[in-house]
Amino acid sequence: MNETAIPARRPPKLVVGNWKMFGTRRSSAEVRTLVRLLGLKRPHCEVVICPPAVLLPPFRQINRGSRLKLGGQDCHPLTQGAHTGDISAEMLKDAGAGYVIVGHSERREAYRETDQMVAQKAQAALRAGLHPIVCIGETAEQNEAGHTLDVLTRQLERSLPDLLDATEHAAFTIAYEPVWAIGTGRIPSPAQIEEIHGEIRRALQKRLGLQAAKSRVIYGGSVKASNARAILNLAEVDGALVGGASLKATDFAAIVYSIN
Ligand code: PGA
Repeated sequence: MNETAIPARRPPKLVVGNWKMFGTRRSSAEVRTLVRLLGLKRPHCEVVICPPAVLLPPFRQINRGSRLKLGGQDCHPLTQGAHTGDISAEMLKDAGAGYVIVGHSERREAYRETDQMVAQKAQAALRAGLHPIVCIGETAEQNEAGHTLDVLTRQLERSLPDLLDATEHAAFTIAYEPVWAIGTGRIPSPAQIEEIHGEIRRALQKRLGLQAAKSRVIYGGSVKASNARAILNLAEVDGALVGGASLKATDFAAIVYSIN
C-alpha cells in the first residue's frame, strides 16, 4: 500500500441499524433504551438507526441531544413531484435524517433498481445534505462462480454519483453486503472480508484520490453481537450495517461496544 497517498485520519467507524419494514411507534421504547445505553459510555463509532420513514418524527423527539443519529432506508432521485409512494432525500432530511441507505440488495432485487438508479439516489442524498450509504454486494451464484471482485468493481463504478468526484468534502459510506450473507447467518471469513474491503478501498482511491480517505467501507450481512468483535475490529472494516440484530437495543448496543 502507498502510505503517502493516504491521509492519516479516517473518519470514525460507523454502525448503522437497518430496521427494514419493522417497527411502530411502540418501538420508541427500544430507541429510548438505546439512547440511554449510548449515554452511559462513549462508543468508538458513530451510531445510526434507519427506521421506516414514518418513525423518523417520533424518534427525532427521543434522540435529540443524544449520540444516536437517524437515517432513511431509500430515497427518490428527485426533490418532489408526481411519484406516488416515494420519499425524497429532502423530505427525509426534514423529518430528522442525517443519513440514507441507497441500493440495498432487497431494493435492487424487488424493485429492479439498477446501478444507475442507485447513483441518482446517492446524488440526491448529497444534494439534500444527507450522508449516503451505498450498498453493493454479490449474489451466491456470482460468488460461487468466482466473480465477486468483478461484480463489486462494476457496482462501485456505476453506483457512485458524479457529484462525489466534483464535491470535495462529500462524505459517504460504501456498505459491502454479500447478498448470500443477509439474514442467513452465513458470513465470509474475517480474512475474506478484509481482502474485499481492501479491494474496495483501492478502487475508491483510484477514482477519488485523496478524497477517498473521507469514505468508509462498512460490512453488512448477519452481523450479531456474537461475531461483531471479530469483524468490526478488522483494519479495513470501518463499521457495520446491521439488519435483524439492530431491532433490539441491547443487541445493537452490544455490537456498537464491540469496537475497541
Ligand atoms: P442482516 O441484514 O443483518 O439481518 O443480515 C443486513 C442488511 O440487510 O442490511
